[in-house]
Amino acid sequence: MSTPQLSRAFHARPDATAGLHTPQAIEEVRITPTGAALGAVVDGLDANRPLSPALVFALQSALDDHHILIFKQQRLDDDAFLSFSTYFGSVFRRPQDVPVLGSEAQGIPPDVVFVSNVETGGYLGSGELTPHADHQWTPLPSAGSLLYALEVPAIGGDTSWYNLNAAYEALDDATRAQIDGLQLITYNPFVRQIENARIKAEGGEAEYPPYRSPAREPLGAAFPHPLVRTHPRSGKKILFLSTHTEVELLGIAPAEGEALIARLREHIVQPRFRYTHRWSVGDIVHWDNQATLHARTAFPAAERRTLKRVSLAGSRPF
Ligand code: OGA
Ligand code: MN
Repeated sequence: MSTPQLSRAFHARPDATAGLHTPQAIEEVRITPTGAALGAVVDGLDANRPLSPALVFALQSALDDHHILIFKQQRLDDDAFLSFSTYFGSVFRRPQDVPVLGSEAQGIPPDVVFVSNVETGGYLGSGELTPHADHQWTPLPSAGSLLYALEVPAIGGDTSWYNLNAAYEALDDATRAQIDGLQLITYNPFVRQIENARIKAEGGEAEYPPYRSPAREPLGAAFPHPLVRTHPRSGKKILFLSTHTEVELLGIAPAEGEALIARLREHIVQPRFRYTHRWSVGDIVHWDNQATLHARTAFPAAERRTLKRVSLAGSRPF
């Protein structure tokens, strides 16, 4: 588990058949929008095979247009999944003092994170996950992630994505003028988890404050980012705000900041900005973490759900 896999992922595979070395052409692939607020389905692509340059550009540009890409019927080992993922960026690394998913055990999260409720060593269990962007509390939030489904439950465990560019575009002019230029801190939910464990050990109730009030100590290191960010590739404006994590706006009176954030969050979670994915085994969903939130419904703990995740490095939000 702790072995970095990237070093292995690109080794030539002498046993591979000739077809596995031939880059696949753009003509072999179809990209079809989901018809929902975001997302496109990619058919005809085999993520085991190299991609032609034109295909890499086409996929990157489809991602910029649709924010998530859904690849069907894949069958990959971890090394092949990592090789495929890194066409779109290098692997996300956290700063040493900022915990993220997968960093508890060895300090460095594995390149391929095991998102599963089944065996020991899996992350995220079977509960609901509220809409969030991964690593938003770090100085350099990841640019995107890919989740690859190996086992899916018969019921529940659906993942939804929200289009934060559409959410921004749908704001009225007065609200846009009010929020352009604001800086937002998103506090680290993994530090909150540690804090809650301490509170519970002392007999208290876990706390999930949506907004930091002046009475509360700031929760660990804080990295402000623009509330309205500009997508580094497409230039689109993004309302970069998760819906439940503790946040704080800089330079705004607390009561006013809290009310504004509550109003923006209510706006973001409207179904018209959402695509919900019902997983099939073999699906890979590649999402742009700079333009979307994602959420998951709970599923029965007795069901098995196993996905693998690769997160890609991002740049400083602006
Ligand atoms: C994640 C995540 C959602 C899911 O891996 O970052 O939020 O559907 N997963 O498991
Ligand atoms: Mn996530």
